[in-house]
Order: sequence, then structure tokens, then C-alpha cells
Amino acid sequence: MVEAAKPTHAFGLPLLAEGELRVAPSILSADFGALAAEIAKVAGVTDWLHVDVMDGHFVPNLTVGPPVVASIRRHTGMFFDCHLMMTDPGEYLEAFRDVGANSCSVHVEVGETGALCAEMRRLGLGVGLVVNPETPYEAAAPYLHLVDLLLIMTVHPGFGNQSFIADCVPKLSQARAQAEREGLHVTLQVDGGIDERTASVAALAGARCFVAGSAVFRASDPAEAVLRIHAAAYGPISAGR
Ligand code: DX5
Ligand code: ZN
Repeated sequence: MVEAAKPTHAFGLPLLAEGELRVAPSILSADFGALAAEIAKVAGVTDWLHVDVMDGHFVPNLTVGPPVVASIRRHTGMFFDCHLMMTDPGEYLEAFRDVGANSCSVHVEVGETGALCAEMRRLGLGVGLVVNPETPYEAAAPYLHLVDLLLIMTVHPGFGNQSFIADCVPKLSQARAQAEREGLHVTLQVDGGIDERTASVAALAGARCFVAGSAVFRASDPAEAVLRIHAAAYGPISAGR
């Protein structure tokens, strides 16, 4: 097994340092029959990988679980950011940790948020919380001090290659304002319909981690696509300094 990325979160350090940004390619849009080769295409240009876990209950689709995470861990030391679209994520957190997940993100809509965050912390996982498009920011606000990463969905979860819902962008600004007010270091992540144009919009509102599935793995050159999205996001961030 390849050694996993260092679990900096276990020591209370931020997932991304101030001023850093990441593109996290989502393997959902990759060729599942050739995952190791697909991951190798982007491993030279980013060290994060987004793993979409769907349980067929919380969302109407099924994808991968711990056995697949274990398999891809044998091929890469990248940071595995596991997005758990599951009704009962608590049942699986330890299993994901044991096979090499670095962080897990649970949906605020499934409830038990405080307990799930505590369990992820106890396991040494990065602690992520996800907010669906129809869920108001206020549902996540009470938990911001417990998390390392807040994921604002900009599509309805369940499928790749959907259109970016711009109405969700103000939640990023709300999260950034709350984090500033409360002196919290939370990585703001955005997921759904991210490409060069929408990454720039999300970056302006405070996003620093950009999940991109189809824009990366359906591109003729996935590495170049990552670099382009990174550059598009970096523009508004550097201008704001
Ligand atoms: C959707 C997933 C996303 C998906 C994004 O439920 O959470 O991570 O892979 O795909 P694109 O980038 O194609 O919208
Ligand atoms: Zn996702």
C-alpha cells in the first residue's frame, strides 16, 4: 500500500493553509474500469482526489465504498476527500479511515451532525460537512467551529455533469463571513458544475477547494484541465490580496 498523504488534520492543522487552493478531481467522471490510470493522469498537478460515495438512499445512485478506496490507495498517496452521500455515514467512517481516507464529509441533512463530527475527529479524519442546494446556510452555521471543511453543493447530489446552480454561491460568502467573525480556519469547498468559469465565480465568494468531475475527466487532457481550473480560481483570489 502506498503511504497516504500526511493526516495534518489529526494535529489540529488546517487542511489547506491560508492562501492555498486546490482542485480536487472527482473520480465519479473517471473510467471506473481504469481508475489507477485515470488518477495517474492528474497526480502530477494536484494532490487531492474527491471520492463520491453514494448509497442509493440519500441519493438515487450507487457508486463506491471502502473496498474501492482501499484499491486506489495502493496506487497513490494523494489526499482522499471522501464525500459521503449516505443516510447513515456514521456506520462507515471507521471503515473509510482504515482503508486510507484522509477526510470524510457528511451531509447536514442526515442529522446527528455534532456526533458525526466528533466521531470523525476521534478517528483522526479531516472533518467535512456538506450543504445541499435546497438547504439554507443556517443549517450548517452552528457546526462551523467543529469542521475543517465546509462543502457547498452547487448541484443536487447524485450525478456528475450537471449545471452549476449559481443561487448557492451566497452561502460561500456567508460561510467566509462567519469564519472571519469567529476566527475559524475552515476550507470552503464547492462541488457541482465546476469549470473554469464557475471556479472563478466560487473563488470570488470564498471557495478554496474546487471539486471537478466532468470538466477534468471528460477533457482530452485532464491534467491541463486541472491547471486551467486552478488558474481560473487563482485570478480572483490573487486580485483580492
Ligand atoms: C455530485 C458529486 C460531484 C460530481 C461533480 O453528486 O458530488 O462530486 O462528481 O461532477 P461535475 O464536476 O461533473 O459536476
Ligand atoms: Zn462530490
